[in-house]
Amino acid sequence: MKIFSGSSNKPLAEKVAKDLNADYSLLDIFVFPDGERRVRVVDRVVGENAVVFQSTSTPPDQNYMELFFILDALKRSGASNVTAVVPYLGYERQDHVFRDGEAVSLEVIIETLERVGADKFVAFDLHSIKVPELFSIPVLHLSALSLFAQKIKNIEGDIVLVSPDMGGIRRIKELSESLGNIPYATIVKNRDLETGKIEDSQLNGEVKGKVAVIVDDMIATGDTTVDAARLLLEKGAEKVFAFATHAVFTKKAHEVLQNSQIEKIWVTDTILVPEEKRFPKLNIISVSEVIAKGLKNF
Ligand code: R5P
Repeated sequence: MKIFSGSSNKPLAEKVAKDLNADYSLLDIFVFPDGERRVRVVDRVVGENAVVFQSTSTPPDQNYMELFFILDALKRSGASNVTAVVPYLGYERQDHVFRDGEAVSLEVIIETLERVGADKFVAFDLHSIKVPELFSIPVLHLSALSLFAQKIKNIEGDIVLVSPDMGGIRRIKELSESLGNIPYATIVKNRDLETGKIEDSQLNGEVKGKVAVIVDDMIATGDTTVDAARLLLEKGAEKVFAFATHAVFTKKAHEVLQNSQIEKIWVTDTILVPEEKRFPKLNIISVSEVIAKGLKNF
């Protein structure tokens, strides 16, 4: 197996290559002055199993184009089997038509990935468990929940898990079961479909006197997590901690989170968090071992 990486998250690809004791192969990615990219496979890959890493986080379109070119270059260079590992799948929230007239962007992405040469696909904590059904190639859907469970076990107090929206209920039930059926609560939030802004939210479940642990798939602006924390404290929670797999961290999310009433925030390295977006309350857990183990059997 030869491991390749696009530009978005090389440290994760390197860690997985090390965990697997696999070759980390170089790609020549040249950026022209107008922003166009040229991709070239440097090593010989004829007949090889190639694994390509690319998190399609910000800027998603650029990262997707680069991934498409890498897949094409590997296929043209004779790789026999190409697995795309996309630890964060950009556009995954646009998986169906919400309002008449919209494109289903995720379907366009998936069709292109398959067309340009992905034979297998590895994803991490997808927004919806229905996403794998949109693919025609085999999909391995991995999760950070077991890593989160290990950390949650070490938090002191009477824990209640909290899903900050109804979409996360499956995740929270699974985590509760793995921690011995500990209690959970959910927040029902209503968003403006045009702007995505949260309009109002209500809590289902008891949090008074408890240590609330919010678990979500991603943090983008930080509004969902911080609003959830505010509501939980208003309803009597003693303390609030937060976990999210994907640190999308748009705009000023790092400041919003650091200045919030949340004690500590854990994310993973499915997206590379740049130095300027790291903050004292932030802890980053690596998913490299989960990916390495998954790849061995896929
Ligand atoms: C929503 O359905 C997701 O699970 C996240 O809660 C949401 O995308 C987080 O976005 P933000 O941080 O911008 O509120």
